[in-house]
Amino acid sequence: MITETGTDFRKAAALLEAGKVVAVPTETVYGLAANATDADAVLKIFEAKQRPQFNPLIVHVPETAQAFDYALAVPDAAHRLAAAFWPGPLTLLLPKKNVISDLVTAGSDRVALRVPAHPLFRTLLKQLSFPLAAPSANRSGSISPTRASHVQQSLDGRIPYILDGGESAVGLESTIVGFDAADQPVLYRVGGLSPEAIEAVLGHSISLQHQPAEHPVAPGQLRVHYAPDVPLYLGDLNFLSQQHPSGKTVIICFRNPPVDPIIPHFMLAPEGDLETAAKNLFTALHWANSQAADQILAEPVPETGLGLAINDRLRRASVNYEF
Ligand code: TXA
Ligand code: MG
Repeated sequence: MITETGTDFRKAAALLEAGKVVAVPTETVYGLAANATDADAVLKIFEAKQRPQFNPLIVHVPETAQAFDYALAVPDAAHRLAAAFWPGPLTLLLPKKNVISDLVTAGSDRVALRVPAHPLFRTLLKQLSFPLAAPSANRSGSISPTRASHVQQSLDGRIPYILDGGESAVGLESTIVGFDAADQPVLYRVGGLSPEAIEAVLGHSISLQHQPAEHPVAPGQLRVHYAPDVPLYLGDLNFLSQQHPSGKTVIICFRNPPVDPIIPHFMLAPEGDLETAAKNLFTALHWANSQAADQILAEPVPETGLGLAINDRLRRASVNYEF
């Protein structure tokens, strides 16, 4: 199969209407989309990504009202979060109606819903008469894509079309919020919307659900994820340089260059802001992966705001960190 890249949303719509998969730009990361109400189309997502079928998919719609159409019940807190953050990098886990195929939710009675903010993706969604199921557009377990070229590298020859919407503005996957038996919000995945922003709307704190490694509630939260082809070590850069002195090293640093600036490095945010670091994170990982290095050294960013999600992704990409 030839993979074409372009900006033609009508072509993307025609392919999706024909039951094909198309890579689409979102403000978080690129997604690999198919008609969420067509099980045969959804199956092609799992095939193209080589994703295990126990891992469910997020359903994308253009408006909040449509999202809640697929939910059996919507807690008050879900309404408030949607009003504050949709369209945007928030996914809500809600009890599903039957029209959503079991393949999309991997047999769960809850569906993950998101109203994305990327203008070209929204134009595409509004053109369609069905919602789009879409995981990130990378091979299962590898680095998420924030540019059309990242998708091309990962899925070339496996999908017909990549809708190019430029670089993803947020750069981290959506934050996933579900609700417990008492309708209290629970954080299932840290992501492109900070916990502080959510707490400000709720008026109280929200806790991160501990996910058992073997059977996570949000099954994408596996220990090994975002993995580069060579080992990535996460920690203090000076310490790591002494621990791993041999071979070719490349470095991902936050705001300051490494002590030895001759070592090839990618600075996530020279100004030290976490928004820029988030936007650059997956580009940095793709860059490091393309350097034919023997090892990648990376340092954590401050553990606040978007820094929680950045450090989460770095830990999952690393070989030396145990959850
Ligand atoms: O920003 C994003 O969320 C991107 C863009 C494309 O929207 N999508 C994305 O999808 O990151 P994916 O498949 O890479 O990650 C979705 C996560 C996985 O951890 C999956 O297990 C979880 O959401 N998830 C999806 N549906 C679920 C469900 N019904 N119940 C529990 N977890 C679910
Ligand atoms: Mg993913």
